[in-house]
Amino acid sequence: MKKVLVTGAFGQLGLSIQDIHLQFPNLKFYFFSSKQLDITQKQNVNDVFSQVKFNYCINCAAYTNVEQAEKTPKIAYEVNSKGVENLAIACRNNNVTLIHISTDYVFDGSKTDAYTVEDVPNPINEYGKSKLLGENYIQQTLNQYFIIRTSWLYSKVYGKNFYKTILEKAKIGGTLHVTDKQIGCPTNTLNLAFFIINNLIENNTNFGILHFTDEKAMTWYQFADNIITENKLQDGVVLLKAENYLTFAKRPINSILK
Ligand SMILES: NC(=O)c1ccc[n+]([C@@H]2O[C@H](COP(=O)([O-])OP(=O)(O)OC[C@H]3O[C@@H](n4cnc5c(N)ncnc54)[C@H](OP(=O)(O)O)[C@@H]3O)[C@@H](O)[C@H]2O)c1
Repeated sequence: MKKVLVTGAFGQLGLSIQDIHLQFPNLKFYFFSSKQLDITQKQNVNDVFSQVKFNYCINCAAYTNVEQAEKTPKIAYEVNSKGVENLAIACRNNNVTLIHISTDYVFDGSKTDAYTVEDVPNPINEYGKSKLLGENYIQQTLNQYFIIRTSWLYSKVYGKNFYKTILEKAKIGGTLHVTDKQIGCPTNTLNLAFFIINNLIENNTNFGILHFTDEKAMTWYQFADNIITENKLQDGVVLLKAENYLTFAKRPINSILK
């Protein structure tokens, strides 16, 4: 039976993997929280890898606060770059295939159509830079890896994300202002979780970088509109395009991944 380590297993993607893992009875999963396995701590990583002979490691651990990463980048680099290198080295030493999650934010967003895996990354914020460095460490360290770039990840159940924030606000009602200045592909964590286990672990050996998103590209405004309509809340909400949408971190205008 193949053994699968999941790091950062109590974030929104990790919890979605936990939700579906019983659909795959021929795999044995080991779920580690950030407290049980802190990927920035080499000794902690080595201890966990020495306890069980894993076949795969799905790295859901990441520092994902894009705004805060701009203000205090050190922590983002510790987790998203150094922590990922620690995992890559442990995977190499123990012959484990690493499945790592990366982001649309490795691109600058200036391209007019969808980004392919051949496009050259050029991150425009600290989060994106820290994630790209993590990708680089994996490529320098390992032959057997998948780096999955995804975008606008949301769970309807877990974590803090755009879907849940809009839903909460729409339930209260009133006017919502949402930007239409960026375009990307919202991706449900359950779909990504299923893809990782079903397509990569069960059926694939083509290692390397790949892009995975749900199919439809849209602006944040259109995504908000869909969320409101899906939950039949349109009667109580006025959705307007935000004119002055300011964030601390720069964000790519085009985030569409092919
Ligand atoms: N969210 C998005 O829109 C988005 C878009 C594209 C790509 N991604 C990528 O997709 C992956 C999953 O994202 P997500 O949305 O599921 O993130 P998330 O909900 O923020 O979960 C990240 C998890 O990592 C854990 N973690 C943080 N530092 C750690 C450390 N040093 N050691 C071990 N675990 C640590 C966190 O634990 P604590 O909560 O205890 O700190 C949390 O459980 C990440 O690689 C992210 O970069 C996300």
